[in-house]
Amino acid sequence: MLKGRHLIDPQDFSIKELESIFDLTERIIESPEDYNSICHGKILSTLFYEPSTRTRFSFEAAMLRLGGSIIGFSEPGSSSVAKGESLADTLRTVGAYADIIAMRHPKEGAPRLGTEYCPVPLINGGDGGHQHPTQTITDLFTILQAKGRLEKLVIGLCGDLKFGRTVHSLIKAMSRYEDIEFLLISPKELQVPDYIRQEILIGKGIPFREVERLEEVIGELDVLYMTRVQKERFFNEADYIRLKDSYILDRDKLLIAPEDLVILHPLPRVNEISPEVDDDPRAWYFRQVKNGMYVRMALILKLLGVK
Ligand code: CP
Repeated sequence: MLKGRHLIDPQDFSIKELESIFDLTERIIESPEDYNSICHGKILSTLFYEPSTRTRFSFEAAMLRLGGSIIGFSEPGSSSVAKGESLADTLRTVGAYADIIAMRHPKEGAPRLGTEYCPVPLINGGDGGHQHPTQTITDLFTILQAKGRLEKLVIGLCGDLKFGRTVHSLIKAMSRYEDIEFLLISPKELQVPDYIRQEILIGKGIPFREVERLEEVIGELDVLYMTRVQKERFFNEADYIRLKDSYILDRDKLLIAPEDLVILHPLPRVNEISPEVDDDPRAWYFRQVKNGMYVRMALILKLLGVK
């Protein structure tokens, strides 16, 4: 039962609960017109303390396509946050007006803290370099759509594995499925944080390798998850400039990739996937974008308990 629950971490929902979201997402994709007024009278609030295109717009589009309404901010400076209002008071207040809240915050752990004060379901739309569970549900749904399974997969994660919250969430989520192997492709400075390596990968006995060259492993992959180097998390611009173009996926690299590779990217991209790859049938990232809206429609319905 997902009604009334918060979603802060990709492991907050069981595998069975995720399957119920995937089933509903498929039904919505098959006949979206059946759902276009189902949330009439309901309000979603989007509180975005950090920039976003996909997460905020897809949540808002999802609620509008369900017949509901939206309120919120994309710039906290336009709200009473600018006057020093605490996160707790903001959530208590907005929770008095809205039925469900999606929030992005630069501080890791802010959404978890927020659940102590938020009177309606609170969804983490990304907290710092920590977690991004709705991106992960979208990623899982897209892998399932492309591969027909979430087990027995070799998944390559490439780029900024240190600050990339989508990577951390995906490793956590995929670690619950059988026969998963991770190939972690990054410069040494951008390897996964120790809590992911120790608690999830080593702690659960999941096979993984850390390599620096994409060409070394691309031929072994079922899924390649490319990521942007997260400029906004660097303390030092010189380091960002040195590392930002560490990986650029182009047609030449795809010559040695499997025919049935699935290329994902949470987006936005900068240079890490050349536009010439966009037309390759293995490029799934724009299908992934659209899936994000349908997945969030299903999630809103589940958390509101709307049948
Ligand atoms: N994937 C993702 O979180 O994109 P935005 O930052 O545009 O929301």
